[in-house]
Amino acid sequence: MKANNEKTVEKLNQVLSDLQVVYQNLRTMHWLVKGEQFFMLHKLYEEFYTETAETVDEVAERILMLGGTPLHQFADYLKNARVEPVVEVPKGKESLKLAVNNYNQLLSTYRELNAYAAENGDEGTAALFSELIGSTEKKLWMLNSTLA
Ligand SMILES: [Fe+2]
Repeated sequence: MKANNEKTVEKLNQVLSDLQVVYQNLRTMHWLVKGEQFFMLHKLYEEFYTETAETVDEVAERILMLGGTPLHQFADYLKNARVEPVVEVPKGKESLKLAVNNYNQLLSTYRELNAYAAENGDEGTAALFSELIGSTEKKLWMLNSTLA
């Protein structure tokens, strides 16, 4: 594996770990959210975790394309993730703040990866993260509008 790829794989495994924690956080919110807007929120979190599962797969497969091995143990995800696992889910719309928080953390990591890959001429990784930056910004705009 090229030296640059090794460093990229390390960074991608960090994002993969964050994404796995975010995935479980969204499932936790889907299960435990309560309040008047239950139906809307329960459905929304399902959409979010389903989409996150696809992103997890894309990142893991990018690691494989670069010649690396994606982390695949829960223990490794917890050790590497910067995103905190959700323990308590606030009632109703308040729970959206957790999602905003998680997506903001992902967004800053996506930006870091995108810049790093672009610097190294790794077009495939840069493009993947450009797309993720755009879709996450859109989600944050919608979530923040709901909370406004
Ligand atoms: Fe369900």
